[in-house]
Amino acid sequence: MFKENILKGKKILVTGGGTGLGKEMSEHYVQHGADLVICGRRESVLADTAAEFKDKYGANVRYQPLDIRSPQDVEDFIDSIFQEGPLHGLVNNAAGNFISPTKDLSARGFDAIANIVFHGTFYVTNAVGKKWLEQKIKGSIISILATWVWTGSPFVVPSAMSKSALNTMTKSLAVEWGPYGIRINAIAPGPFPTEGAWARLSPKGDLDDSDSMSTIPMGRVGQMSELQNLATFLMADGCEYLTGQTIALDGAQYLSGGGTFSQLSKMSEDDWSEIRSMIKKTNDSDKQKRST
Ligand code: HXC
Repeated sequence: MFKENILKGKKILVTGGGTGLGKEMSEHYVQHGADLVICGRRESVLADTAAEFKDKYGANVRYQPLDIRSPQDVEDFIDSIFQEGPLHGLVNNAAGNFISPTKDLSARGFDAIANIVFHGTFYVTNAVGKKWLEQKIKGSIISILATWVWTGSPFVVPSAMSKSALNTMTKSLAVEWGPYGIRINAIAPGPFPTEGAWARLSPKGDLDDSDSMSTIPMGRVGQMSELQNLATFLMADGCEYLTGQTIALDGAQYLSGGGTFSQLSKMSEDDWSEIRSMIKKTNDSDKQKRST
């Protein structure tokens, strides 16, 4: 879909880049010529990912254990990146989530999610944005959100609240930083199975059973290549006018939930013929009543 060197000359930071969706996007960036920096809480998975990309692509990946909940650690880390040279892209991918009835959440349980997603993502975004403003760099930010930023979602309320706030951050900073050429967009993926998310969000495997699949008009989960391609498109040059947008990548799942008639896609041609003749009968009988 892209020229191999489309990201050449760009250095991109992916938070939570050692595993899951972050690793998938990171790999695509490296494959397309970018220099990569990844951070996350577990040094061992970061080291493994960096070694894997070195083996496969000869890529030099810088990695750093970092808990984005600590604003000072975030500032220090971003400083250290810029000391080595400019950064051009940021992917806010690091997150935490688990399913739970809201009534069972303790304050610490709520904070465990909100401190990572809501606070931590802001710390990283602002630390990078300040450098870009100082150094007049026209960077690109992508945040990985979820479609529940528009719909809300039961049983993941701390995540839904926090990611909704990041949707607001995306719109707000697109305007505030737009005059300096900084763009900020977000991707709202539907179900893209990864080990970490599925263990916390679908421990019994019910997120990709046939009931769940029937809520997705395209009838399937997302393919990593689809997420990778969108993440690369938003990071590459050529469409800088696109900013402040959160793009759903979910096979139309969230839109189908709101439509009164969404379930009708299950109907057969025979069902439709039958319905058409029933509607016609009603119309004909109305016409007859009006003419008498
Ligand atoms: C209720 C829970 C809980 C659970 C933790 N807590 N898990 N409460 N149900 N399942 C409570 C604890 O009891 C404790 O409160 C408080 O949360 C802090 O718990 P810790 O384990 O000390 O927290 P911490 O070590 O900070 O762990 C953070 C975490 C954990 C988010 C809770 O799951 C984690 O590290 N996850 C990292 C990766 C991750 O979550 N990936 C999935 C992201 S998927 P008390 O009061 O008892 O002390 C995603 C969107 C996917 O973001 C979209 C798909 C469609």
